[in-house]
Amino acid sequence: MFDNLNDLYQQVILDHSKAPRNFGELPGADHFAEGRNPLCGDQVSVAVKMQGDVIEDIRFKGSGCAIAKASASVMTTALKGKTLNEARTLFEKFHELVLTGQAAPCAQLGKLSVFGGVHRYPARVKCAILAWHAALAAMAGDQKKVSTE
Ligand code: FES
Repeated sequence: MFDNLNDLYQQVILDHSKAPRNFGELPGADHFAEGRNPLCGDQVSVAVKMQGDVIEDIRFKGSGCAIAKASASVMTTALKGKTLNEARTLFEKFHELVLTGQAAPCAQLGKLSVFGGVHRYPARVKCAILAWHAALAAMAGDQKKVSTE
């Protein structure tokens, strides 16, 4: 599926899907939400520990394909230390990237830019944004199950 992505991007995605960062329970978490991809039924739950408006720690667990797992993993590394507003802005740019393959300025996305090839596989866009939906719902205090629909 990734024939058109360069080797580095492919390597980062495979690495994060095989050995996801920040995977598992988060002791002391105070915000939770669960996301579901209606296309496949996969679910990802996200737990966040907030310090005021700042994301002190974040972890995820659940099932999902390699893209969903890698996206959740890279997302957690990108969001630690960010404010809720910064997280929302980052998601807008990330969403634009996975939908169109472009996001300006791309430099702000850092490692998230490895998902720039996802737009070539429209069915995988929901996989890439699954954990983001759960994370933003959790931080907003919305504990109901959210869907990528
Ligand atoms: Fe289910 Fe990607 S196929 S999350």
